Amino acid sequence: MRRIYFDNSSTSFSKAPGVSDDMKRMMDLGAFNINRGGYEEAYHVAAQVLETRQLLCQFFDFEKPKNVVFTPNITTSLNHLIKGFLRPGDHVITSSMEHNAVIRPLVQMEKQGVTFDAAQCNSDGTLDPQKVEDLIRPNTKAVIVTAASNVCGTFLPLKEIGQICQNHGLAFIVDSAQKAGTFPISMHDLHIDALCFTGHKGLLGPQGIGGMLLTDRMAHETVPLVAGGTGSASHLEEMPQFMPDRFEAGTMNLPGVIGLRAALQYLDSKAPGEIAAHELDLAMAMHDGLTHLRGVRAVGLDTRQNRAAIVSVDFPDDDNARIAFELEQNYGILTRVGLHCAPRAHQTLGTYPEGTVRFSFGWNNTREEVQFCLDALEKILA
Ligand SMILES: Cc1ncc(COP(=O)(O)O)c(C=O)c1O
Repeated sequence: MRRIYFDNSSTSFSKAPGVSDDMKRMMDLGAFNINRGGYEEAYHVAAQVLETRQLLCQFFDFEKPKNVVFTPNITTSLNHLIKGFLRPGDHVITSSMEHNAVIRPLVQMEKQGVTFDAAQCNSDGTLDPQKVEDLIRPNTKAVIVTAASNVCGTFLPLKEIGQICQNHGLAFIVDSAQKAGTFPISMHDLHIDALCFTGHKGLLGPQGIGGMLLTDRMAHETVPLVAGGTGSASHLEEMPQFMPDRFEAGTMNLPGVIGLRAALQYLDSKAPGEIAAHELDLAMAMHDGLTHLRGVRAVGLDTRQNRAAIVSVDFPDDDNARIAFELEQNYGILTRVGLHCAPRAHQTLGTYPEGTVRFSFGWNNTREEVQFCLDALEKILA
């Protein structure tokens, strides 16, 4: 049976052309450690790693490649910041659409005396930025929000929130997991102090590589969570203060960086907005097709603007898990059902605790696949 992958919000598939080739070449020809070997082969890898930092700067409109830190994924980046930047007594503002990658570390930090409030989003996932400003207290230190909901794709108003942070001297930390790669994000224009990314979703790279881009203030004020060898300043028993070594103890996922580099080069070769336009065409075709089916409730925005290509659906008269199961078993359509690690988002959207069936589209999905899925749903619901 043919398989149709509509779970790109979980991880993108296919990866960008060139990713697996470059990773294989590196593993075959020599995955030499950077900062550890004083020979040409290691310098060559170091140059590619630096190039990847530069590409990320270009991508996120940021000027300091040395302040690009690699981590295994965005969850690790967010943990670094939430646990290393916040101190007992600090207050944080987040939103009611967050992934557990933000909420769980914040809840852990509550035990250390950090408090947080979640600005309440509307039932389509949109947020009135004034709600963020209303929550500011004298001890508020940071605002941490997702760029786009992983449940329904709705964008949060980063520009307005960034301006509020700027006006009040708050650090602005962004979870770019569902927006990066497909949609532009300018750290400069949005006044972002820490941009966390994961390489394996819209950036079309492999799993196991992510990171964060930090302003000097964030880099300086965040205590490194992990200490160890960096291959630099080895006479010191403390972590080096300079970037990116300050946050990069231990051997890095170099094949992952090389794969990410290939993915970034591919994205760079595309016309701006080309992938987003294609994915949104598919999402809107899905959305429109669903309106002709009975017993279906799509949540989130019903317009093309301010959203990623995610369509999340509740089947009020049916069992969502059964629908997802039938889609897979009988039609080979792969989706994700449940709460998508974002229970508060489902509370906001009115789909808690049952969750939704999530269809998330990628750069190499087609209109024909969407139509096949709509036909399958019609038959399942009949
Ligand atoms: C909005 C959001 N934040 C964070 C994450 C966590 O990503 P990772 O598992 O790559 O750390 C996800 C993944 O689904 C996400 O959608």
